[in-house]
Amino acid sequence: MASAEIHDLYDSILILDFGSQYSHLITRRCRELGVYCEMLPCTQKMADLSWKPKGIILSGSPYSVYAEDAPHVDPAVFEAGVPVMGICYGLQEMALTHGGKVEAHTHREYGFARITVEKTGNAGADALFAGIDIPEEGMTVWMSHGDQVASLPPHFLTVAHTPTSPWTAIAHESKPFYGVQFHPEVTHSKQGKLVIGSFVNNICGVKPGWSMESFIPKEIARIREICGDKGQVIGAVSGGVDSTVAAKIMHEAIGDRFHAIMVDNGVLRKDEAKKVKKMLTDDLGVNLTVVDASDLFLGRLKGVEDPEKKRKIIGNTFIEVFEEEAAKIEKACAEDKSKGPIEWLLQGTLYPDVIESISFKGPSATIKTHHNVGGLLEDMKLKLIEPLRELFKDEVRALGRLLNIPAHLVGRHPFPGPGLAIRILGEVTREQVQILQHADDIYIEEIRAAGLYDQISQAFAALLPVRAVGVQGDARTYDQVIALRAVSTEDFMTADWFEFPAGVLKKISSRITNEVRGINRVTYDITSKPPGTVEWL
Ligand code: XMP
Repeated sequence: MASAEIHDLYDSILILDFGSQYSHLITRRCRELGVYCEMLPCTQKMADLSWKPKGIILSGSPYSVYAEDAPHVDPAVFEAGVPVMGICYGLQEMALTHGGKVEAHTHREYGFARITVEKTGNAGADALFAGIDIPEEGMTVWMSHGDQVASLPPHFLTVAHTPTSPWTAIAHESKPFYGVQFHPEVTHSKQGKLVIGSFVNNICGVKPGWSMESFIPKEIARIREICGDKGQVIGAVSGGVDSTVAAKIMHEAIGDRFHAIMVDNGVLRKDEAKKVKKMLTDDLGVNLTVVDASDLFLGRLKGVEDPEKKRKIIGNTFIEVFEEEAAKIEKACAEDKSKGPIEWLLQGTLYPDVIESISFKGPSATIKTHHNVGGLLEDMKLKLIEPLRELFKDEVRALGRLLNIPAHLVGRHPFPGPGLAIRILGEVTREQVQILQHADDIYIEEIRAAGLYDQISQAFAALLPVRAVGVQGDARTYDQVIALRAVSTEDFMTADWFEFPAGVLKKISSRITNEVRGINRVTYDITSKPPGTVEWL
């Protein structure tokens, strides 16, 4: 029997992305409504789609529909026999496809607007706003367009207007096609979620069913079906949220047939390997092997200062160590007749990575080589199993809480694969690692004590390659400098530095200079991204 796919388990909405900065928010809003949805590039051919959506949403776009290089949907979208809603550019694309006209308008609409919803008397056309309690003065929405519909396509009706735009929302007179010029997916459109809900729940008829509570048993059943009675799975864990949640769900599904491997690369945070071992093995029951490869990693990092070289060494050495350990587990499984072969490799891929990799605009430029375990597959000939592939980060956190993963771990800041090696500017030695581990530990402890940890997206200390003069006790010192970094960000593409209360910084600085041998100065990094990056290397 073919493995159960997510679309067999949930009614799904298809979102076709024309590259708007808000596109992923449509996905978020649908998920919040308990509706499973997937976003694919607008160039998706309907004939190539392996599942049947219950409805289709066309996103906004930075393009003009009438421009020569403008992206267009497969006309089969309108022949799929399911409801379609176009948002902003999506509405204009729908209008153009059906014989309407779209033009640049003298009165551009950016920001808040009030729309007046009209009753056409046609129940189908009125369905989009039916049941929404619209204030007398109109519905407050967020607009962001320079083009607008200049003549309505045949068989379409006007269902909402603004003083400058007569066709702010349109609907077909006999088919379930709707278009809105505003952006219901952004929170500034106060009743926007109701409009999306009206489309997905009422018009498409999707019953809310998507929740992490419902995801767990379904995903466990899916994993069991994929792995069969004996199939074995291996996977790397780091102690981060994604790999821990992925490991726990694998353990729930197939018990000790999931083999987790943690590689101690010598550049982890203070006592990290010990803490992860305790949590995964003792608290969560996951079958885990910790490999202490710190000598190997630190040996290879000797004398290396270049950040990209550090990343490459750590990435390649990680693959080598992981494969060696996996081969040992594989051998043990082969010798034990009660066990099947290792066929699968667990990866903690999340939905934003999937969207990014198939984006209509193409993957965004890689500023740094981000290390992951992607390189493992080719040599190992294992099949990928990715239980978090459909989830956003906050869904993974919700899943983690339901799987009894401790709260402090579920809310943890991200930690990069190359670890402290990209926070030690200059050569990475065991002594430098210990200094940084100690300072970082104090910093995070004080942030937690001040109750600020959850307000910060990522905080860490970096060890600078300079020496400064200080006076400690009565003696003059010539020691190293710690830079503290803390940022707030939505997506890590841009970030603001975090505004600490001065008292908190004062305490952190005093503790670090008093307690960490070799440090006589602490600075706070007040650079946003851009122009800086989050990490120092
Ligand atoms: P940057 O420094 O690029 O960081 O602004 C953005 C986010 O990415 C993390 N980061 C990495 N993660 N391997 C990783 O796994 C890397 O090489 C790497 N470099 C940066 C960084 O910690 C932040 O969360």
